[in-house]
Amino acid sequence: MALTADTIERAGHFSIGGDLPVVRLGFGAMRITGAGVWGEPEDREESLRTLRRLPELGINLIDTADSYGPEVSERLIREALHPYKGLVIATKGGLLRPAPGTWVPLGKPEYLRQQVILSIRRLSVERIDLWQLHRIDPKTPQNEQFEAIKAMQAEGLIRHVGLSEVSVKDIQAAQKYFQVATVQNLYNLANRSSEDVLDFCEQNGIGFIPWFPLAAGDLAKPGSRLDSIAKKHKAAPSQIALAWLLRRSPNMLPIPGTSKVRHLEENVASVAIDLSDADVEALNEIGKA
Ligand SMILES: NC(=O)c1ccc[n+]([C@@H]2O[C@H](COP(=O)([O-])OP(=O)(O)OC[C@H]3O[C@@H](n4cnc5c(N)ncnc54)[C@H](OP(=O)(O)O)[C@@H]3O)[C@@H](O)[C@H]2O)c1
Repeated sequence: MALTADTIERAGHFSIGGDLPVVRLGFGAMRITGAGVWGEPEDREESLRTLRRLPELGINLIDTADSYGPEVSERLIREALHPYKGLVIATKGGLLRPAPGTWVPLGKPEYLRQQVILSIRRLSVERIDLWQLHRIDPKTPQNEQFEAIKAMQAEGLIRHVGLSEVSVKDIQAAQKYFQVATVQNLYNLANRSSEDVLDFCEQNGIGFIPWFPLAAGDLAKPGSRLDSIAKKHKAAPSQIALAWLLRRSPNMLPIPGTSKVRHLEENVASVAIDLSDADVEALNEIGKA
């Protein structure tokens, strides 16, 4: 299908923190880095083209992290898209990157603050629109991490706060310190271990950002379980997986990640797929299997 700036509107909108409206289909910028989320991407020019295509397609939520590369993803976003007219750049901090493919939580208040300031510098913004704690560090007292975030919000370094890979209990604990605007947990058609968190988010006006929305491409493979429904809609299985996510909850903000314009366009086209109730039921069964 021909994509226009209007196509994306079919995804609908969500207001992050009640005052930051975004189109419900965003973009995950972890894949515009090298293997193991380390260093420069294999095809730098294609990564830049992919980023520059986002505003043309009407996508205005971009998810990144200081640890993607590290630094590489934030730098490319700045190079391709600064000054971000109308774009919400959501970043994260709280993970060390000692080696490719290795991620170590560190939630010491001085480290979190340093990383927020470095993200502000790299992205060339005055404050981060949505800053997410990448992981709650189990070795640092939770209240120290939340106090540090609260202080950075009061100081104006952060506009809205999100959490990642958390339980309902974690969210409730954080809500004593600040408004939790978004939660980013692993969730897709085949992995529903965060159903309770999603339901809590929906009941409390919190945006739910499912990472691994395509199960890292597994659900996207030809011959996969989604194939028959996909064929009926003349769609790719990955598009059905995204359409199902968007249908699952009005608070759902998928951020499929890709380093290729072709895949980005295919993912955006998924917003135009109208799944029937019978399709949704069948997909729920596939997901449970
Ligand atoms: N909070 C966290 O702890 C956490 C963890 C992981 C990820 N994330 C965030 O979530 C985002 C999404 O997760 P993800 O990137 O890991 O997984 P994903 O979006 O489920 O899958 C991305 C993979 O699928 C491929 N792909 C994308 N579109 C495709 C298409 N139309 N057809 C075929 N293959 C396609 C991509 O390869 P190509 O580059 O070749 O297209 C990439 O290998 C990340 O970018 C990141 O921003 C957060």
